[in-house]
Amino acid sequence: MNSCVVGLQWGDEGKGKVVDILAEHSDIVVRYNGGSNAGHTVVIGDNRFALHLLPSGSVRPNISCVIANAVVVDPEVLIKEIETLAQKNITLKDRLFISESAHVVLDYHKKEDQLREESLGKNKLGTTIRGIGPCYADKAGRSYAVRMGDFRELEQLKEKLQRIVEYKNKVFAAVYDAEPMSAEDIFVKCKLYADKLLPFTIDTTEFLHKAIGDGKSVLFEGAQGSLLDLDHGTFPYVTSSNSSSLGMPAGCGVPAKMVDKIFGVVKAYTTRVGAGPFPTEQDNEIGQYIRDKGNEYGTTTGRPRRCGWFDAVAVSYAAKIGAIDSVALLHLDTLAGLKEIKICKTYKINGQEKTFFPTNATRLSQAQPIYETVAGWDEEITEVGDFHELPVNAQEYIGRIEEQISKPITIVGVGPKRSQTIFR
Ligand code: GDP
Ligand code: IMO
Ligand code: MG
Repeated sequence: MNSCVVGLQWGDEGKGKVVDILAEHSDIVVRYNGGSNAGHTVVIGDNRFALHLLPSGSVRPNISCVIANAVVVDPEVLIKEIETLAQKNITLKDRLFISESAHVVLDYHKKEDQLREESLGKNKLGTTIRGIGPCYADKAGRSYAVRMGDFRELEQLKEKLQRIVEYKNKVFAAVYDAEPMSAEDIFVKCKLYADKLLPFTIDTTEFLHKAIGDGKSVLFEGAQGSLLDLDHGTFPYVTSSNSSSLGMPAGCGVPAKMVDKIFGVVKAYTTRVGAGPFPTEQDNEIGQYIRDKGNEYGTTTGRPRRCGWFDAVAVSYAAKIGAIDSVALLHLDTLAGLKEIKICKTYKINGQEKTFFPTNATRLSQAQPIYETVAGWDEEITEVGDFHELPVNAQEYIGRIEEQISKPITIVGVGPKRSQTIFR
């Protein structure tokens, strides 16, 4: 059986935790989109892992890990991650496979990301400054792109980098009045990247089709969330890849038909980092309560996350485009102590009711959420292991969400640890 895990909100839903759990029954875990903008957390006992490029299955010793074609690889981050795991006696030798077609994030991408954000002032997107947008732009533009397979031909790469950096430096000077970069310095780093990463670099499409043909079980791990999807999210406040499950087939060369089950991951409320409309945002003491209790600070950038009520309009949309079979709802424990909890069931836009999520950022910013209010609960639930032992109001809250999004909730998170999970 092959499955896919994808976020149904604006990222950070808890995909890392769900992938780690489902990986127990998988042979291979595949990242198919995004780059080191992702921060996926896995907590096993007292050990906490924050993964940016390695699939979240990597912390399990016998699982093969694939970084597929449409991931943009920052070699510096990846090498550091491999070394951090090695320090904890987790080796990736013979079980990490990086696509030779994956594009490479280099220093000039990160510099461009930063300069552009700075120059935009209040109009900035609030990116993670990991060079994601500029790298995907070079991929689409083709002439100035570097892929993992290019590390095999260092002499050619040297020449190519000279051309690329010359071009980038002209842009940096003319547009941003910024200092030039050295092609030679970047090339020296690339030689090191080649040394460390080429042993893992292969044709991952061939690898995956062979594995599936041999009956292996593959788990596809989405990064970011469906509402940040470049084509189907709240543009321009999105990331630069297809971060819904729609990105899976194109991202790794395995047709969607070959996936048996798609899990959508949500929080029991909503968070968002960076700019963009967020109809149920609670920029008040409720939002602060959730931020404090849920430790809502970015895994990659440390930024405080914007917090708000669960938005069933947004999640229903994400579940529709994602062909979601069942939902994992995490952070239920974070809501304990609130007197009332709200679920947004529809929007009002310019006086008209709207139940289908508008991705147009201007229209979405005009949406007034219409809420259903349910009673909260006081009991802490972080030790609860059985659904029927949850406070009745918590059970009812889950039931209301299931009804609003028309999907079954089969996994419930009551804490960050692997063990703090309820299966239904
Ligand atoms: P991802 O990007 O979707 O993998 O999510 P992140 O790792 O960026 O953010 C999720 C955060 O919530 C991490 O700190 C997790 O350890 C934590 N987490 C996951 N599930 C739960 C849960 O059920 N309850 C609580 N309190 N924390 C959780
Ligand atoms: P995971 O996989 C939450 C957001 C950024 C910004 C926008 C564009 O951990 O859920 P980018 O750097 O991609 O150009 O930034 O997307 N963003 C995320 N938000 N979780 C993520 O990943 C994100 N990756 C990007 O905050 O608003
Ligand atoms: Mg994250």
